Amino acid sequence: MVDGESRRIRFHDYAEIYKIPGMYEKLFADMLECTSPDVVAGLLADAVDAAGQDMASVRVLDFGAGNGMVAEALAAKGVTTIVGVDLLPEARAAAMRDRPGLYGDYIAGDVTALDVEQHDSIVEAQLNCLTCVAALGFDDVPPAAFAAAFNYVVSSGWCAFNLRDRYVDEPSAFSRLLDRMIAEGVLVDASHVRYHHRLAVSGEPLEYDAVIARKTRDIPESWIG
Ligand SMILES: C[S@@+](CC[C@H](N)C(=O)[O-])C[C@H]1O[C@@H](n2cnc3c(N)ncnc32)[C@H](O)[C@@H]1O
Repeated sequence: MVDGESRRIRFHDYAEIYKIPGMYEKLFADMLECTSPDVVAGLLADAVDAAGQDMASVRVLDFGAGNGMVAEALAAKGVTTIVGVDLLPEARAAAMRDRPGLYGDYIAGDVTALDVEQHDSIVEAQLNCLTCVAALGFDDVPPAAFAAAFNYVVSSGWCAFNLRDRYVDEPSAFSRLLDRMIAEGVLVDASHVRYHHRLAVSGEPLEYDAVIARKTRDIPESWIG
């Protein structure tokens, strides 16, 4: 019910969900107990601390940023510079509406096809960490888009994302890319933690892996078909 009117909104229709203040949080965080923004931000903070670095020095590109729940969790851990990217203008609008001031910049668009101004603003931000939470593995983010976002982060930066267990355990376009990134040293020091991401609508827990790693170099263009 929205303002006394009954509406049918599909579960993954994020554009419609973001338009209604509080609906994403009610659905995913409250009803389905999604923990991922806090889990991934917490594991990243632990890894940064273990490396003797300060979260205030971590400058994040939050890819698939949605309405800012990951930015909020990162800010709670001490991150002060966050640039958001999401395909949907509704995600950007919701983040500006619900969490103003968290993002230094937030670009709504396809990361593989940014205009010159958008491209330059990300490069100039000298970002040293990619976060991508609850966005990989469902063919929404093609490997080329992940690679483009990853390659905006400086080498020696951090990478923190999550992935449903079956996309780690079974071959998929993204799992093949991830395996290759680790095998060929594009990602090093990768730690995997399996945890309850959220409940499915059936009430069953959904298991995800959180992956925290260091970037050594860009994903070569030749790897992306
Ligand atoms: C489940 S939401 C997660 C939002 C946020 N990361 C969080 O954890 O609350 C997935 C987000 O990924 C975005 N997304 C999907 N495909 C994308 C792409 N190719 N490029 C950028 N964002 C994308 C969607 O628009 C959506 O906002």
